[in-house]
Amino acid sequence: MKEIKNLINITDLTTEEIDYLVRVANDIVENHSFYDEICRHKKLATLFFEPSTRTRLSFEAAMLELGGSVLGFSSANSSSAAKGESVSDTIRTVGCYVDIIAMRHPKEGAPVVGAQRTTVPIINAGDGGHFHPTQTLTDILTISRKKGRLDNMTIGLCGDLKFGRTVHSLIEAMMRYENVKFILISPEELRIPDYMKEKMDKAGVSWSETSDIEKAIPELDILYMTRVQKERFFNEADYIRLKDSYILNLEKLEKAKKDLTIMHPLPRVNEISVEVDDDPRACYFFQALCGKHIRMALILFLLGIEREGFGK
Ligand code: CP
Repeated sequence: MKEIKNLINITDLTTEEIDYLVRVANDIVENHSFYDEICRHKKLATLFFEPSTRTRLSFEAAMLELGGSVLGFSSANSSSAAKGESVSDTIRTVGCYVDIIAMRHPKEGAPVVGAQRTTVPIINAGDGGHFHPTQTLTDILTISRKKGRLDNMTIGLCGDLKFGRTVHSLIEAMMRYENVKFILISPEELRIPDYMKEKMDKAGVSWSETSDIEKAIPELDILYMTRVQKERFFNEADYIRLKDSYILNLEKLEKAKKDLTIMHPLPRVNEISVEVDDDPRACYFFQALCGKHIRMALILFLLGIEREGFGK
């Protein structure tokens, strides 16, 4: 297995490495006792310059379940960034204390800058509107567990496809698998950027665009809902006009497949009505659980640790 020091973008991982992480995540659930102490004396820092619930806490839960320890901060204001310290100096310092760092920052490229200044692995836990590779790994594990495959499916991506970093990364990852089609559902103003369309075309992937969720739903195996990202808008009036473009409810799901998998990276605002939560097709809280398992697998992978007997 090729050694990877950092995870900045999902493209840092080969398809074989992604498949390996999925296998380790499943092994963690099936053979949990092998992993209880596997990271004893290892430390993870979670450096979150931007708010988070799932990513930060699932990283911390992941390291604790592996027998390691966790330290860090949950906002820029509670670190020396508030006094003007650069990202680079913060990472270099924290790298003296821990074995691995997961960081989230509002500025695109911040994890790359951080990674240049430390010798410990850096995991990008979200950089602005850019990348969120561990969400993509979470989504892949969820799809794999729910569908039993990663190929031959139609994925509908709905909502803010312009600023949605989770959508861009998921497309990059899923377009590697055979016969995966995308239906991109968004208002005109929140269409996916041209460079993403070019990537799909270059890879020979089948995709189409629509504003009509009800028309698209019957075709879908996966429906991936996303939040309109208030924090990325320059103009509040535009956000207010677009924020409730799509609200998934039971009525809209009437013509959906019986085995549709409904996903959402969360947090949700209004995109999925709470009445959908009890539908067996709703998988977004299961998805949050998958996030912990795949982050456990990723920490092990980047630290170069494998349980004895795995894969034999
Ligand atoms: N999905 C996700 O990144 O959630 P948080 O912002 O709560 O970490």
